[in-house]
Amino acid sequence: MYHAKISGLGYYVPENVVTNDDLSKIMDTNDAWIQERTGIKERRHVVRGDGNTTTSMGVKAAEIAIERSGVAREDIDFIIFATLSPDYYFPGPGVLVQRDLGLRTVGALDVRNQCSGFVYAVSIADQYIKTGMYKNILVIGSELHSYGLDMTDRGRGVSVIFGDGAGAAVISREEDLTQGILSTHLHSEGQHAEELVLIAPGMGKRWVSDILKDNDPNDESYFPYMNGQFVFKNAVVRFSEVINEGLQANNLSVSDISMLIPHQANLRISQFIQAKFKLSDEQVYNNIQKFGNTTAASIPIALTEAWEQGKIKKGDLVVLAAFGSGFTWGSVIIRW
Ligand code: COA
Repeated sequence: MYHAKISGLGYYVPENVVTNDDLSKIMDTNDAWIQERTGIKERRHVVRGDGNTTTSMGVKAAEIAIERSGVAREDIDFIIFATLSPDYYFPGPGVLVQRDLGLRTVGALDVRNQCSGFVYAVSIADQYIKTGMYKNILVIGSELHSYGLDMTDRGRGVSVIFGDGAGAAVISREEDLTQGILSTHLHSEGQHAEELVLIAPGMGKRWVSDILKDNDPNDESYFPYMNGQFVFKNAVVRFSEVINEGLQANNLSVSDISMLIPHQANLRISQFIQAKFKLSDEQVYNNIQKFGNTTAASIPIALTEAWEQGKIKKGDLVVLAAFGSGFTWGSVIIRW
């Protein structure tokens, strides 16, 4: 039995900054509304033709994480890629990373858990490393949302929130069982699948041929739908539950938390959790203000930034927590 530790972190975001004022030029929105409800000031959007894809951004983040980990590419044993915005309907982006990074013919797994994707991916990596099956696993969360958002007045309740970007971690064997990932906790409640959903193209209700046949300018089925207030209410409850679950499983308490990295869903959700747990500003890392909600990429981007800024040190108790479409939610408890 081994533990797993994060041995390297990296992130990449496209250069193109889209401010709230930029959005207000193309849809009926404004900086005050967006900041008040979400805390977001700006986000990054890929520019068509700049070469960025979900995979290529993930690869750029992964190259940094691998370099920092000190793990040679030939020693990466497995790839796990979390995204809701893959380059292709199939195959998933994991195999494209294997190709683009020139890794051996290692296995590549794609995770479909939206905002909880990175937490689920880390949990899978943890299990493989604990059992001794693999020593070094590349975990990527990457999203290219901007191509798929409804950038009109109709879509404003959703499209102002999401941004593009990627984060990656190399997760490696740790022989000291007091260090590394202490536990992971995963949940789902599919009863609410349609409260945050992208229906088409899918084999369940609407495939591409249906969209083309109907040729309906009012078709919203291929844009994300979100019941914002319902998501908000569930998020604050589930975030709290799953953080407490992780602490209790390790006989720890809130006062032991050195750094909480919540999925960057909405600054108001993070602030609610911070107030509920009575954590200081130094104990919670947020960067949604400049990147928006990057779904599966948000935790690895925030974790990388916090680490780069020296806010995470050896021995710290780091808690990752996420909630999102599915609904799915989860937490990871790490002794750094
Ligand atoms: N700009 C300006 N006005 C907007 C707008 C925008 N971008 N989007 C919606 N509005 C309007 C609505 O049309 C509505 O107008 P009305 O009162 O005239 O009907 C009003 O603002 C309130 O809309 P509502 O949807 O009730 O706002 P809200 O207070 O629920 O805030 C969210 C919307 C999405 C910011 C909020 O519900 C939220 O953050 N939910 C959680 C989302 C989340 O975390 N998602 C990620 C999950 S992982």
